[in-house]
Amino acid sequence: MKKTIKEDIYYSDYLQLNKLLDSQHLLSSDYDDLAHDEMLFIITHQAYELWFKQILHELRTIQAVFEQKPVDDKQLGVATHRLQRILAIQTLLIEQVNVLETMTPLDFLDFRDYLVPASGFQSVQFKEIEIRLGLKSCYRIAFDQHSFYRRLTPQHQDYLKKLELQPSLLEQIDEWLARLPFLHFGEFNFWHSYQQAVDKMLNSDEQIIINNPHLDAQEREKQLKNLADTRNQFKQLLEPKAYQMQFDTGFYRISQDAFLAALFISLYRDEPMLQQPFKLLTCLMDIDERFTAWRTRHAQMALRMLGRKVGTGGSSGHEYLSRTADHNKVFTDLFTLSTFLIPSSSRPELPDAIKQSLGFYFSGKEKGHL
Ligand code: HEM
Repeated sequence: MKKTIKEDIYYSDYLQLNKLLDSQHLLSSDYDDLAHDEMLFIITHQAYELWFKQILHELRTIQAVFEQKPVDDKQLGVATHRLQRILAIQTLLIEQVNVLETMTPLDFLDFRDYLVPASGFQSVQFKEIEIRLGLKSCYRIAFDQHSFYRRLTPQHQDYLKKLELQPSLLEQIDEWLARLPFLHFGEFNFWHSYQQAVDKMLNSDEQIIINNPHLDAQEREKQLKNLADTRNQFKQLLEPKAYQMQFDTGFYRISQDAFLAALFISLYRDEPMLQQPFKLLTCLMDIDERFTAWRTRHAQMALRMLGRKVGTGGSSGHEYLSRTADHNKVFTDLFTLSTFLIPSSSRPELPDAIKQSLGFYFSGKEKGHL
């Protein structure tokens, strides 16, 4: 019910500390075998879950921005700001591992057996973050596609499976990029100019290889073959059918239009209209990278605590966790973009009319401008 008169509130009531601080029950004490470090283990996990809750709070509103059709450009700043908050939290999550690592592997063994079969596999909030970002089942390593689902309650399974059917942030970003209007320039064919710039760059590289006196015939042939492969990659990027074939194999996850828009943004990121989209794409890459850093750090902690033992959730332990660090990624296309960047000096010059439409329409002659 909505309150109409402001009431005084007490600190611990506002934060519901009674509930919060009464939620650390040491399982080892039930067996009359109190393990001192179990408190640290519980509090660390709870702190993680609270931060996961905050990440989801941000992520849901970021997704709401991209759910709109069309996306309201004015809200891109807020979305980026919230992505930056997620990044700050992720930094904390990686650092937090240090605190738990003050527990020695022997101390962990004092209570570990009581935890079986509970496991981080069952962190529904963690899985929700992954799925919302775009790590749907098809992108997970094979073992992970079903394994964690089997360990959840039917309600949790149902909740996450329904979430998998909704558009993820990756899919929303795909759609947003593909609709960006500045890729259609009337008479000017940007991609034609880009291809010419790429050819010029690669032809120059070819001459450098051919004229390099330090290469023997075998090395020269190898380098020329690598160059031919690069040339082919560029060709396949711009050719819709070839792109689609690579999309079908899973090499690309976003559509060709979206990928080219992201490439254009990266190439011309200094144009005023593109600065915000560029910041946003950079944040998405950073989020992916920080999750990988967390996974790697967590896998290392598991190795230190368990050696080669299996996890309480039944995975192969460290081996499984380091494979997820290598493979369970979301915005892989944004990293692939760098393959197709060309130096600023070779970048096609945009016609004035296009530059103007990517600017803020400020002529410099307005009143008050010096
Ligand atoms: C002594 C410390 C820890 C050890 C030895 C450990 C070990 C493991 C192992 C072996 C797994 C694989 C699943 C399994 O077989 O159980 C796992 C998964 C997981 N753990 Fe931990 N963990 C520790 C602490 C933490 C903490 C503090 C968190 C924070 C929430 C956490 C979150 C997770 C998550 C989210 C997964 C699922 C990862 C995925 O499936 O990609 N773990 N952990």
